[in-house]
Amino acid sequence: MGYEFLCHTSDVELGTMKAFETGGKKVILFHISEGFFATQAKCTHLFLPLEKGAIIDDCRIQCKFHHAEFDIKTGEPEVWASYPPGIQALNFMRGEKALKTYAIQTSDDDDVLIDISQDASHSKKSEENVREKEPA
Ligand code: FES
Repeated sequence: MGYEFLCHTSDVELGTMKAFETGGKKVILFHISEGFFATQAKCTHLFLPLEKGAIIDDCRIQCKFHHAEFDIKTGEPEVWASYPPGIQALNFMRGEKALKTYAIQTSDDDDVLIDISQDASHSKKSEENVREKEPA
């Protein structure tokens, strides 16, 4: 599929996020101090919209509904659903699951490009695996 235009860098200010639809998928673009990152738009807990949540410590997205927190760069859950009290009873059915992440590039023209066919955290892991297997 390859990289496609998503928005201009000025469309998502530092410390904010915005939902977009591209290639039939809804994604959230985050702008944190380390750059732009994208994840799926729905929380993996009960599939509610993450865009209503908040960016915490410039690195995690906290879902508004039951307070699960995910690493913005990797999509990995850091804190699972814990609000309101008692929600943990549901968690045996809805166990921890990472968000999908998508590869992002920015161009010299201040365009943000996304490749929705590429899972960003998976591609990083794949690169690490390749490096580990390369002969010294
Ligand atoms: S829907 Fe996000 S934590 Fe429950």
